[in-house]
Amino acid sequence: MIFIKTPEEVNVMRKANLIVRDTLLMVRDRIKAGVTTAEVDRWVKEYIESKGAQPSCLGYGGYPASTCISIDDVVVHGIPSPKKYIEEGQIVGVDLCAYIDGYHGDSARTFMIGKVSEEKKRLVETAEAAFFEGIEGITSASRLGDISGRIQAFVEARGYSVVRALTGHGIGREMHEDPAVPNYGVVGRGLRLHHGMTIAVEPMINLGKYDVYTERDGWTVRTKDHSPSAHYENTVVVWDDGVEILTM
Ligand code: MF3
Ligand code: CO
Repeated sequence: MIFIKTPEEVNVMRKANLIVRDTLLMVRDRIKAGVTTAEVDRWVKEYIESKGAQPSCLGYGGYPASTCISIDDVVVHGIPSPKKYIEEGQIVGVDLCAYIDGYHGDSARTFMIGKVSEEKKRLVETAEAAFFEGIEGITSASRLGDISGRIQAFVEARGYSVVRALTGHGIGREMHEDPAVPNYGVVGRGLRLHHGMTIAVEPMINLGKYDVYTERDGWTVRTKDHSPSAHYENTVVVWDDGVEILTM
């Protein structure tokens, strides 16, 4: 079931999403080689709570932390650990959600730590550019496949692959609502979008092949070929005359 939001509901969602945005800006300023992923997770939890919100991920389906921190070949859902030190040259995906006044916000960035290889840098830049390519020109007259197909074409034209096993999603009163928003598809096909539809668009792209697997911890998703992976996500609202990004 897809829940279309009224402009009033979107106004409430702005609050959650701006907290998510500001949390990621805080992480961007502080993340560096030598800190553990558990420390980053603590910054995130304390920051979100200081704004009167709750970290939506904590306890979601039993998830044990407030943040997903996914390094190099980890695609998404990396669990923060006091034993995991962030190192120079890594690419570190930081994905987080906040909940306030009955609604969720969701966004992710992949940070480059110190000097990273050209190969990783271009991958990270492509994940971000793919998001903007996907939403470019989208209105309520568009179809889901317009977003998905454009992302896939853009990413594959650069020689990367798009993860198939995970998708973006609707968001609102629940962190994950319908519809699923894949990063692969066919332009012109799929569900018609709607004025007031709120979705998280989140390209997850691999330097190598698209296959992934989940580790025995039940969360950590890695590329099968252990090639690096990058993730970029914003929560957006579809309007009759375009798309508004709520997490920027
Ligand atoms: N923020 C993730 C997303 O983009 C969801 C994290 S799963 C959780 O959909 F269990 F960590 F919450
Ligand atoms: Co999401």
